[in-house]
Amino acid sequence: MNDSTFIGTSNRGFAQQAQEELRRLLGPSVKFEWLAPGEVFAFTSQFERGDTIDRILAQEPVFLRHMQPVDAEQSWDGTFDQTIHHIREMLALAGTSLKQMDIAVQARKAEGEALANLSLPSVRSSIDEMLATVYEANPVSREADLILSLYFTEAKLYFGLSRPQDNLSDWSGGAIRFRKEEGQVSRAKFKLLEAEHTFGLDLSQYRAALDIGAAPGGWTSLLLERGLRVTAVDPAKLDATLLRHPQLMYFQKKADEVSFAANAFDLLVCDMSWSHRQMAKLVRGLLGALQPGGTAIITVKLMHKKAFQTIREVVSDLAPELELQQAKQLFHNREELTLFLMKQG
Ligand SMILES: C[S@@+](CC[C@H](N)C(=O)[O-])C[C@H]1O[C@@H](n2cnc3c(N)ncnc32)[C@H](O)[C@@H]1O
Repeated sequence: MNDSTFIGTSNRGFAQQAQEELRRLLGPSVKFEWLAPGEVFAFTSQFERGDTIDRILAQEPVFLRHMQPVDAEQSWDGTFDQTIHHIREMLALAGTSLKQMDIAVQARKAEGEALANLSLPSVRSSIDEMLATVYEANPVSREADLILSLYFTEAKLYFGLSRPQDNLSDWSGGAIRFRKEEGQVSRAKFKLLEAEHTFGLDLSQYRAALDIGAAPGGWTSLLLERGLRVTAVDPAKLDATLLRHPQLMYFQKKADEVSFAANAFDLLVCDMSWSHRQMAKLVRGLLGALQPGGTAIITVKLMHKKAFQTIREVVSDLAPELELQQAKQLFHNREELTLFLMKQG
């Protein structure tokens, strides 16, 4: 049986948690090598490539944000010409037919002076040209059939070809980007946008949302844009641009100072910067207002880096009313992660 190697990426400072998850999924023999300490690492599993991917996808890790296969690795001298030469060879060796396929080239590099002069956009555009002229493929940036992943360290060039769904994210390194809008209330809006994407939700399908810890109002503004009625609760001020919105009710109060009719909401969101147990207690106090089958999206602070214990404690504090569907550290989470839960009937 052939072993298989991948490059794994987590949020900075959470790679050890990602490695712990991989050890659980792939067994204690999995080997790691740092590429960018704390964030990017190569891992080698005793299982062949497809089997390794299946094991990881079957129980998607919380902290592993992205993975890309390593089909070939090559020492290199850091020059542009040698880079293109090696990639040409690796593509030829891969032997996969790329004709008429939509291919996205995703290139990343480790930090380091020796890599400072390597221009990733120039690498990408040269490969795009090669893909189009030599392989009759269609270079694309999104919605690809296959992703050609490149990772450069000072010593090596790593190359892999994979289906986007096998990489955990179809964004390079899992770094999903949203366009910042003019007048955007807060960057926190990106967290809810990413949660919607990652958990496969369509927020416009909900009717009425309760937003706990809503100020300055990034999440509230997204929910209003999606057409929901929103009840926002926060002792701090909501952005003035939101206050006149006809679909918004705003209580400038703490979460334990409000109460609502039973089943008033089909969506509860909470992005409070609180210790996880305090937050869970405040959410529990308002759970009667979430209808059975309703969804909850909750940010959890990871105060002391005891990440797995924190998840266990919050999930147990919110049970049995809320049942965990998925926990994920999103690209837009910092020292936190996001839970997607459902209210039981
Ligand atoms: C990270 S901010 C929320 C950002 C918001 N989701 C957005 O998109 O703009 C955390 C908020 O939680 C609020 N908060 C803290 N304690 C609270 C409590 N007991 N009840 C309600 N809100 C609280 C804070 O006032 C703060 O505005």
